[in-house]
Amino acid sequence: MSVDIVVGGFWGDEGKGKIISHLVNKRQATIVARGGVGPNAGHTIVVDGVEYKLRMIPSGIGGKNVQKLLIGPGVLVNPDVFLDEVEKTEMKGKTFVDHQCGIIEESHRKIDTTDPHLVKKVGTTGSGSGPANEERVRRKLKLAKEIPKLKPFLTDVPGEIHRGLANKESILLEGTQATYLSLFHGTYPFVTTKDVTASSICADVGIGPTVVTDVTLVLKAYVTRVGEGLLPGELTEEETIKRGWTEYGTVTKRLRRAAPFNAELAKRSIQLNSATKIALTKLDILFPTDQGKTSFDDLSEEAKLWISDREKEIDMRFTFIGTGPADIEIIDREG
Ligand code: GTP
Ligand code: IMP
Ligand code: MG
Repeated sequence: MSVDIVVGGFWGDEGKGKIISHLVNKRQATIVARGGVGPNAGHTIVVDGVEYKLRMIPSGIGGKNVQKLLIGPGVLVNPDVFLDEVEKTEMKGKTFVDHQCGIIEESHRKIDTTDPHLVKKVGTTGSGSGPANEERVRRKLKLAKEIPKLKPFLTDVPGEIHRGLANKESILLEGTQATYLSLFHGTYPFVTTKDVTASSICADVGIGPTVVTDVTLVLKAYVTRVGEGLLPGELTEEETIKRGWTEYGTVTKRLRRAAPFNAELAKRSIQLNSATKIALTKLDILFPTDQGKTSFDDLSEEAKLWISDREKEIDMRFTFIGTGPADIEIIDREG
């Protein structure tokens, strides 16, 4: 029995979905619950060779023991995006949203794609998440329980999680966005519209911090950011392409800005989330000869040296190391 939270350490897109895909089978998790803002997130996961791009459904779809994929009451739901994903993943019967999830409507998307402050200054994802959260704060936003087409999917998410805990089942809590996109701890005003650190992920799904076993902070081997705002050590577009660090946003298709791994940011993120474990992703992008490796001993000497230098800088060990996009392309040093 365990409760694991997975959160991002930089500005999102660290590969949280892929780490969830690994942990869901390792922990034999029965419940995966999603916290965070809403469909502004995009997780790309590769399960049994098939790629899925998920904005609403938790990334635990490949879990052999999974019984429930839940979206907590703190998360915004876009019903069309949700229903489309339920169909594509064939997860009907396992996927549920809390009665109290806030609902994103076309009017919110319209503001998020036309308001000059949001579009030009902040550079939002245009998903309607910010305007919907604004309306929730004014206590005017519709909730999931008011939407007829969501009726078959409604549940009490905190109730489901606490039933799982009472049965001593393993539970995964999936964070979205990341530490420096937090409304409170991030690089304001170039942030998302809620706190998204580990404590808020707990609140989003309805548990307190005392039942958490581990907080796994996901750090990518380099740092990326979409939208505006500070990015220390930012490379030019030309240099980003030259290094092979080009990435495009899952939701916005925008080119992600890139910079080298930043130990200072990582250390602060470890504190803000009280991380107990670190997952490093995309080692294979820095060291292509190491792609797909599953054992630390098999890594190239250069990669091992890079890892031990970074571990010294941040004073924590990389428990999980991603060596490719597929769920099985990972080195697991947890024992
Ligand atoms: P947000 O909640 O939107 O922040 O997303 P995320 O953290 O789940 O990450 P996202 O899926 O947007 O981006 C990560 C990308 O890297 C995906 O395309 C993954 O398939 C890929 N990926 C994850 N881990 C690895 C890895 O170790 N190596 C390689 N090459 N790709 C990886
Ligand atoms: P919003 O959350 O759509 O309002 O966007 C605010 C800022 O957060 C923008 O810079 C977005 O690019 C960024 N952002 C929001 N969600 C994600 C995510 O899941 N991954 C990466 N960036 C995100
Ligand atoms: Mg993403």
